[in-house]
Amino acid sequence: MSCRRGALIVLEGVDKAGKTTQCKKLVYALQKNGRAAEMMRFPDRTTQIGQLISSYLEKKNNLEDHTIHLLFSANRWELVPLMKKKLEQGITLVVDRYAFSGVAFTSAKPDFSLEWCKNPDVGLPKPDLVMFLQLNPSVAAERGEFGTERYETSAFQRSVQQRFEQLMKDPSVNWKVIDAARSIEVVHSDIKVLCENIINTSENLPIGELWK
Ligand code: ADP
Ligand code: TYD
Repeated sequence: MSCRRGALIVLEGVDKAGKTTQCKKLVYALQKNGRAAEMMRFPDRTTQIGQLISSYLEKKNNLEDHTIHLLFSANRWELVPLMKKKLEQGITLVVDRYAFSGVAFTSAKPDFSLEWCKNPDVGLPKPDLVMFLQLNPSVAAERGEFGTERYETSAFQRSVQQRFEQLMKDPSVNWKVIDAARSIEVVHSDIKVLCENIINTSENLPIGELWK
């Protein structure tokens, strides 16, 4: 049976940019329009590797910086067979964070290069579209206090933002910058249009390989 594949759509951005809110609204809107769509998020804290990551983020355990980076990547790779299966079944995947968060967060630590950080994720299924929800840190701060998890400080988030900006210079990835300071509904309608278009244009194309 020949089946049009689903699109791989990723939302990225710093904390409180609205990624989770928009992923949920997007999946709901696509489904309402009769499209097969599902949400995924990374880290996926439900797997064994995901549980290790979760306790690291909750500061219940300490892991060496290279080690945790590789675990975040392994957490994506362990989901690749399932992702490919769903895409091939025609299901569009809307993903809350992906390898770009992996690289931006680790490379915001001292002595990590972008190149080193990208390596373990080279060859992952390549997103058809990566939307970066752009939000000024002072506006993000108005959306609530930071939680208590690791990385949730303004200084670290500013470095993460700079690393995302470096990653967005790569033309091999289909980046779209979205002004996330607008209302939830306005941001959603922009995102929905971009996604309807990308679903139509990618359905007959093979799934690409990231950073290859
Ligand atoms: P992220 O997943 O990027 O951390 P969330 O979707 O969890 O962000 O949103 C963080 C907070 O900001 C939530 O309280 C959410 O309701 C709120 N929020 C999300 N989008 C907007 C928006 N466009 N305007 C105002 N508040 C928003
Ligand atoms: P997440 O579960 O999305 O939490 P939140 O809803 O608070 O954004 O992400 C957890 C943290 O893990 C977040 O600070 C970003 C970080 N992270 C990495 O450091 N590397 C990665 O590969 C990913 C996917 C996330």
